[in-house]
Amino acid sequence: MSPTKPYDELLKDAFDPESFRRDGHKVVDVLADFLADSTPGKRPRVLAYEDPEDMLASWADRFGAVPAAPFPELLPEILARSNDLLHPRFIGHQCTPSLPLAALGGFAGEFLNNGSAIYEMGPVNVAMERQIVRWMSGLVGWGPDADGIFTNGGTIGNLTALLAARQATAGDDVWGKGVGSEAPVAVLVPETCHYSVKRAVAVMGLGEVAAVPVTSDARFHTRPECLERAFDEAIRQGRRPVALVANACSTATGSFDDLEAFAAFAQTRGLWLHVDGAHGAAALLSPKYRHLVRGLDKADSFIWDAHKNMLMPALATAVLFRDGGRSYEAFSAKASYLFERSAREEWYNYAHRTMECTKTMIGLRLFISLAAYGTDFFGGYVTAVYDLARDFAALIRDSGDFETVVEPESNIVCFRYLKKGEADLDGLQRRIRRTLLERGNFYVVQAELLGRAWLRCTLINPRTTLADLEALLAEIRAVA
Ligand SMILES: Cc1ncc(COP(=O)(O)O)c(C=O)c1O
Repeated sequence: MSPTKPYDELLKDAFDPESFRRDGHKVVDVLADFLADSTPGKRPRVLAYEDPEDMLASWADRFGAVPAAPFPELLPEILARSNDLLHPRFIGHQCTPSLPLAALGGFAGEFLNNGSAIYEMGPVNVAMERQIVRWMSGLVGWGPDADGIFTNGGTIGNLTALLAARQATAGDDVWGKGVGSEAPVAVLVPETCHYSVKRAVAVMGLGEVAAVPVTSDARFHTRPECLERAFDEAIRQGRRPVALVANACSTATGSFDDLEAFAAFAQTRGLWLHVDGAHGAAALLSPKYRHLVRGLDKADSFIWDAHKNMLMPALATAVLFRDGGRSYEAFSAKASYLFERSAREEWYNYAHRTMECTKTMIGLRLFISLAAYGTDFFGGYVTAVYDLARDFAALIRDSGDFETVVEPESNIVCFRYLKKGEADLDGLQRRIRRTLLERGNFYVVQAELLGRAWLRCTLINPRTTLADLEALLAEIRAVA
C-alpha cells in the first residue's frame, strides 16, 4: 500500500468490489485451513498465552495516519495469537466454537449492517428473530400469547426480564418516578446464580442487598424448601418480594433447579418466576435431556443464550415471556424520531423492549443455521455434549486418582486430581490450571466449590471426544 495515496484513491480502494472479492476469498481460504488444522494432530496448542502487557505492547504503533497493513496480511498473526475455540481441546468457559456457517451469516449481516432497532432499519432480521422466538416458545409449550426479543448476551437478558418483572409486579410507576417512589422490593435468587442476576438487581437501583439468596443443597440445587425462609428474610428486611429466579442451569456446576417446585412457590406467593436458562435452556432441544427443564412452561420469563449451547457466535440471547404483553413493560421511553405511533404493541419495533437501540443482525446467524441444518441437528448436538460429560465423569470415577464434585447434569464438569501424598490439594489444582494455561495444549478453567479448588470444563465443542479427555487426565498427571 502506498503511504502517499490521496483520500479519493483510498476511498475507491475501500469500496472496490474486486479488492473486496480478492481479500474475501483470501480470508475464507485462511480460515478454512485454520479449521482443518484445529486438531491435536495438526496443531497441538489451543492457545498461546502471553502476558497482557506484552500483548498490549506488541499491538502498539501498528496503525497510523497512512495505510500500514492490509487485513489478509494481519490475519495469520491474529489467528496464531488468539484462542482456538474450534480446537477439540479448548474446553474451558461456556464459549462455543462458532458454527462456521453462522460465522458466514455474521459476515453477511455485518456487511449489510441493518441495525435492527426498529423494523424499517432491518426488516429481514426483525422477521427472522420473530420466527425464532415463536419456535422457541413452541418448544416450551407456550401458545400464541408468548413473545420475546433478542439481546446482546445473557447479562442484558437477565436485566431485561427482571426490569419487566418489577414493572409488572411492583405496582408503582418506577419508570416514571424512580426507585424511591416504590416500597422497597426484593428478588429471591439462588445463592449459586450467575453474577449478572445480582448485578441486575443492583443496576435496577435496589441494591445488591435486595437480591435475597436461597441456599443450595450438596448437589448445588437451590432448595425449594428454603424459598419460604428467603421470602421471610426479605420481609424481615422491610422489602416486598416481587420475583424469584431459578437456575437452568447454574454456571459453576451446570445444575438444574426444580422448576416445578419454584413455579408452585411463585404462584402461591404471587411472584414473577424468571428462569436463567442462559446455558441450559438448550436442553429443550434434546428429547433425552429436556426433562431437566420440566416446569419451564410455568415461568413468566426465561433467557436462552444461543451463543452457549447452540454453536452461535457471541452474542445471541433470546429473552422470552409467557405473556408477551409483559415484554413491553420494562422500558417505557418516548422517542418520536424512532417510533411512529404510540401504540406499544408493535412487535416489529424491538427498541420498545430492549436496552439497546441499534443492534447487529443477531437472529440472522441462527436463522440461516436452523434453515441449513434443521432443528434436529441442534438437538443431536445437545444430546452428544451432555452424553460426553457423563462419559467423562465415568472416566474420572474409574481413574482412581481423580474425583468430580458432583455428577454432571449438563455439559459442565468440575473435577480435581487427587495426587497421592499431596498435602495441599487446593494449591495443586491451582498450579495445574496455571501450568495448563502456560503449556497451551488444553484450556480448562477453575472454580471454588464447597471451600475447595476444582478444575472446570465445559464440553461445548462438538469436536471434543473422550480420547481428548483421556489425554487431558494424562497431561494433568504429567504436569502435577
Ligand atoms: C447462567 C448464566 N447466566 C448468565 C450468563 C451471562 O451471559 P453473557 O456472558 O452472555 O452475558 C452466564 C454466562 O456464563 C451464565 O452462565
